[in-house]
Amino acid sequence: MKISVKQVSEVRGEFFDAVVVFSFEGKKVRRVFDNSLTKIVSEIVEREKFSSKFGELLVVYKYKLPRSLRFNKIVILGAGKEEKFDSEALRKLGSVISKNAEKYNYSSVVVTDGWALKKLDYSLAFRALVEGLILGTYKFDRFMSKKEEDGKKVELREAVILRRGGSVGFEEVVDKVKVVAESVFLARDLQNLPSNVATPSYIANIAKEECEKVGVRVKVIGRDEAESMGMNLFLAVARGSEEEPKFVVMEYEGGGDKWYGILGKGITFDTGGISLKPSEKMEEMKFDMSGAACIIATIIAIAKLKLKVNVVGITPLTENMPGGRATKPGDIVRGMGGIYVEIVNTDAEGRLILADALEYVKRYKPEFVIDVATLTGACMVALGYEAAGLMGNDDQLKRIIKSSSERTFERVWELPLWDEYEEYIKSNFADVKNVGNRYGGAITAAMFLKKFVDYKWAHLDIAGTAFSDKEKYYISKGGTGFGVRLLLDIFENLEK
Ligand code: BES
Ligand code: ZN
Ligand code: ZN
Repeated sequence: MKISVKQVSEVRGEFFDAVVVFSFEGKKVRRVFDNSLTKIVSEIVEREKFSSKFGELLVVYKYKLPRSLRFNKIVILGAGKEEKFDSEALRKLGSVISKNAEKYNYSSVVVTDGWALKKLDYSLAFRALVEGLILGTYKFDRFMSKKEEDGKKVELREAVILRRGGSVGFEEVVDKVKVVAESVFLARDLQNLPSNVATPSYIANIAKEECEKVGVRVKVIGRDEAESMGMNLFLAVARGSEEEPKFVVMEYEGGGDKWYGILGKGITFDTGGISLKPSEKMEEMKFDMSGAACIIATIIAIAKLKLKVNVVGITPLTENMPGGRATKPGDIVRGMGGIYVEIVNTDAEGRLILADALEYVKRYKPEFVIDVATLTGACMVALGYEAAGLMGNDDQLKRIIKSSSERTFERVWELPLWDEYEEYIKSNFADVKNVGNRYGGAITAAMFLKKFVDYKWAHLDIAGTAFSDKEKYYISKGGTGFGVRLLLDIFENLEK
């Protein structure tokens, strides 16, 4: 999609399929295109008693317009209540514009700037609008035999965003958002692929190919090498599967001598292992590699944006299957750093593979490490679909994550890691066991991870946000790519 920023004088007289106008509930329509259009739109809103409720559309065709206006139609976009309007609202409305292109048959639009309320941070809001426009176009139809034919299908090809005053610097923002969206789409694609296609080897290969294109070094550690390195927790999860596990390490060197680590859980399918899951909704466990998808996509975007930081991305990839050689409840395994773990429940496997990754990253002497994982159903019980659980051992790092979370609207909510929770994972037979009792499951999972950490660290439990069974504006059904925009925002702002 071509997106540009222009002033009214630059587009006057040019032809567009539609002009998009924002209309707030109970407010007069203003800042449209010019006075004549303002008058027309105001009349239409009044005559049609358009509610202007958030996300509603009123499309008016040319036959009702004076011939001097070179638009085929006017798209009046309900922007809801002005008090509630923020950059997230704009992100959502951006997706409403691109998603309705087919229904209302427009492929080029001029977006007027009625959204630019004084209370908004203009550049954040502008970026959100562009994100919404692009993210709303995501489709995953690789396994649909009948695809809508390319030539016939109407999609939004061009959007000109009107700007009063200078428009310098906004092209850069558009270019940046395109890179970010590409990465979000890569993460969503990897997530949406079924586990018979997206095996550990397949994902490792994609990571290698895509990373090497943008100058990220990749090392793929297979079963034998993992064994010689003592990654026994990782291998304990892989034991029940015929698929070879792959431990992928991606290094991006952007400058300076500090290293930052990002880790992602990569269970390509989680059956639960011998602690087998019930079959209802088990198909959703193909999304159990969402953390890994997020990390691969993020490091690629960091490289494309040439951020001046050094980042290592690590994704242990394996299936969790109940094979004849699978790990059994009660088995005790020595992790790479020497900690003995009693595996009481083989369905609590994410923390096991992450433990070896948390250990491995120590060789980089990282400034901080963030891990991203669809770790616990308990986190969904606590926070639903709206936020990822945030836990960690460093207040400053948690603050950095929270402020990026506010900017990107990839929401996080903190849960505590108090010492008292350590009790919950004490084992009678080993240093630690991999599950607690019924309660505080998101926290005990993080308490387990904390045992393997001796640096500044934060953990994002994305079980509730990684995939969605509903389309929600710019968030598509299936994999959401959650975490990519959040992590990127963190590294974009570290530089400054
Ligand atoms: N992958 C699951 C967590 C999960 C559940 C993610 C639902 C997304 C949606 C994880 O490996 C798991 O099974 N966790 C167990 C832990 C329990 C055995 C302590 C859980 O949450 O039930
Ligand atoms: Zn599990
Ligand atoms: Zn899992």
